Amino acid sequence: MSPTRPTTANVFIASFIHAVLILSAPHLHAQATNYADKPPLLLGAAWYPEQWPESRWEKDLSEMAAAHIDVVRVGEFAWSTMEPSEGQYDFGWLERAIDLAAKHHVCVVLGTPTAAPPAWLTTKYPETLRWDENGVRDEHGNREQFSFTDPKYRQLAHDIAEQMAIHFGHNPNVVGWQLDNEYSAPSFDPTAKEQFHRWLEKKYVTVAELNRHWAAAYWSQSYDNFDEIPVREDGENPALLLEWKRFVSETWKSYSENQISAIRPHADSRQFITTNTMGWFDGFNEYTVHSVLDIAAWDDYIPTDNYDYIANGAAHDLTRGYKQKNFWVMETEPAFVNWRKTNTPLLKGQVRDMAWQAIGHGAEAVEYWQWRSAPNGQEEYHGVLVGADGTPVPVYEEIKKTGEEFAKAGSALAGTAPHAEVALVNDFPSRWAIDFQRHSADFDPVGEMLAFYRPLREQSQCVDMISIDAPLDGYKVVELPGLNVISQAIADRLMAYVRNGGHLLLGPRSAMKDKYNALQPERQPGPLADFLGGRVDQFYALDQKVPVTGDLGSGTANIWAEQLSVQSPDTKVIATYGKSNGWLDDQPVVITRHVGQGSITYVGAWLDEALLSDLTTGLLAEAGVKPILPGVPQGVEVCRRSGQGKSVLILINHNTEQEHVALPSPMRDLIGSQDSISAVDLAPYGVAVLSYEK
Ligand code: GLA
Ligand code: GLA
Repeated sequence: MSPTRPTTANVFIASFIHAVLILSAPHLHAQATNYADKPPLLLGAAWYPEQWPESRWEKDLSEMAAAHIDVVRVGEFAWSTMEPSEGQYDFGWLERAIDLAAKHHVCVVLGTPTAAPPAWLTTKYPETLRWDENGVRDEHGNREQFSFTDPKYRQLAHDIAEQMAIHFGHNPNVVGWQLDNEYSAPSFDPTAKEQFHRWLEKKYVTVAELNRHWAAAYWSQSYDNFDEIPVREDGENPALLLEWKRFVSETWKSYSENQISAIRPHADSRQFITTNTMGWFDGFNEYTVHSVLDIAAWDDYIPTDNYDYIANGAAHDLTRGYKQKNFWVMETEPAFVNWRKTNTPLLKGQVRDMAWQAIGHGAEAVEYWQWRSAPNGQEEYHGVLVGADGTPVPVYEEIKKTGEEFAKAGSALAGTAPHAEVALVNDFPSRWAIDFQRHSADFDPVGEMLAFYRPLREQSQCVDMISIDAPLDGYKVVELPGLNVISQAIADRLMAYVRNGGHLLLGPRSAMKDKYNALQPERQPGPLADFLGGRVDQFYALDQKVPVTGDLGSGTANIWAEQLSVQSPDTKVIATYGKSNGWLDDQPVVITRHVGQGSITYVGAWLDEALLSDLTTGLLAEAGVKPILPGVPQGVEVCRRSGQGKSVLILINHNTEQEHVALPSPMRDLIGSQDSISAVDLAPYGVAVLSYEK
């Protein structure tokens, strides 16, 4: 049973007017893709025709068409079928599969097969195999056994991508390209080390400069030349660790560029190029890699037994932020996966709930992995749409219903995107820096991001998750839960944002390090301390809760607490610690200052949910941010997409009980009755998609 928040007609009306006004907000996120001849919302599946006799394809495609599946991703992992021996290409089967798909009105995303090199390749060119950190070379088998730096591998990857593009770059049924599959493990082979050393040399020019920034006199680390620098992922100087991550990010970027340079000259410009990412995975900087991609895409799998819809929505927003426009869900689970400890299914109804949540957060396509399991191979137990016998499994019907609904609501959602007034900054260098030296094992930088995200999402109902390099001007509130690494240039931009009327919220551990992962010469928040008129006197890891009281009400801090002090007379203390370890007793924990037209607030601890919620309420009120649709029951998610003079609300009931939502004005029920309605009853995991005039 979920509690219901108070509602009043007046709040509805005020909010509705407000909602209409912000449709002219400056952040116009373009539609990511545009195919005049394809449905605006695409439902899809990963299809592996190479794993089945051709005689079977027609039946598969008719079953897909019957489920309103409009797109298949094909080809990733099929290198040994496309190039059975070196330089001998066979694309006939792929061409026939794409043509047959077209006959069933199913379009295609082509995957380059470079996450699965064939056996002839790794046998003939063992130098293409990846080395782990301990110098152990991978063997052929499984997948992702390649080195991302190896020149021979790059050449072979370029060649296969180019041949694919020559064949399919103008194929009207191919809408885009996925490079490789889920970039992840770097290689520590000699080429990678050599490239890292040259990368450092280019950046620092002299080794003396590197020694200075890395404080290399510490433990006699001073280097005489760049080739002496070790390459490891932990236990090293934090400056080295951070630079290695940056190098890995640049390498995945150039790995992408290598294939893009093979595809783009032969492909129509309407064909997008992307890769499929993994939510909060932090092996490289997604903003760096996405700088060379056309759209963002991710694989949405629920990592635990519990579908935490707010956390899942945050990962959608994260992905939308890579290009600041709509994105694709390239893979998602047809109820369950095969790689968790216990692969429990999503509950009946939650597959559809998740699909609509993706659309609500700006997805243009939702594709299930996978259509049908291969008869053998490592993933025989994974969720599918049709079984080994070739007939639909139970979840097929739920996906089919979702497909019918995508078709009904598609034209209303075409050209629309979410538009947020508030932003949360995700910063890879800061996440890495904290992770290298958590100090408190429970200080998970992603957990901290989500702690700030939750109330922001619940109260504003639309959040952009952005890079620190993205423009901030259009946002009324910008939160930096963990901007641990900061440069003077970033500090200057943040101060300008506040002076011009922005409301800035900094979380604990903010602005502690410079871009070399060295401690700032001033106390936290470093280059923002004078501007804040307050600073961190000392930080403490906590193993028990500490009481917090103040304007926000009472609650606790846990995991991390900073003892703050105030230097400026107009910096206000809005919460203090109660009695705890002596150091923190009665000391400030949250301080705030008005500067120019805006404000800066510093939160020195990991506050509990209620305190963070109250803090958010105050900040949003001060900044004039209102929810899209106030008064909805807890657990009912509100998403809005707008653009081209249209507005569409997507309401999702994530609860196990029916919920009632009154609407501020009559809206057209796009996937239900098609009538104009002024209230909606949402079944458990129920969805309503409602259009209204701007
Ligand atoms: C040991 C070492 C020191 C220092 C401290 C830190 O005692 O000898 O160099 O690392 O630990 O606690
Ligand atoms: C990942 C991979 C897919 C498949 C799924 C299974 O997302 O990209 O190839 O292995 O996991 O969940």
